[in-house]
Amino acid sequence: MAGNRTLAIIKPDAFGSGKAGKIIAHLEAQGFAVICARVIHMTKAEAGAFYEVHKGRPFYAELVEFMSSGPCMPLVLQKADAVAAYRAAIGATDPAEAADGTVRKLYAESKGRNAVHGSDSDENARIEGMFFFGAAALV
Ligand code: CMP
Repeated sequence: MAGNRTLAIIKPDAFGSGKAGKIIAHLEAQGFAVICARVIHMTKAEAGAFYEVHKGRPFYAELVEFMSSGPCMPLVLQKADAVAAYRAAIGATDPAEAADGTVRKLYAESKGRNAVHGSDSDENARIEGMFFFGAAALV
């Protein structure tokens, strides 16, 4: 299968309101292939570890609380230039600034409850994929 990979999360707001199927269908229609998927409910410690890079920022506690508030769905997605293509597909962090037709414009509520996460670089895609799926994210 051609392309490289990125790590996505369908966050508790979108997963809990039954939007996971629509979001995956939206991404598949744009050529993303689902390589790994699972449904998990993170503890605060797990959410805190995943977002460690944001520790110390004013929204960190709210982010950890939200990401551990209910089930979410981590995914490894594959497509040519996956990191940039996925970030374009989901739109800006704040749905009020997201372009029409993007996942966050369609499905997100706010900057904090913004439906999906996406890796910001190839290196972080590998690190984040390993976090949820171990070596299966890479093979
Ligand atoms: P995500 O792509 O998961 O990466 C970090 C997350 O922090 C981001 O999406 C937002 O959900 C959240 N975030 C970023 N900035 C803010 C903010 N100013 N207030 C609340 N949450 C934020």
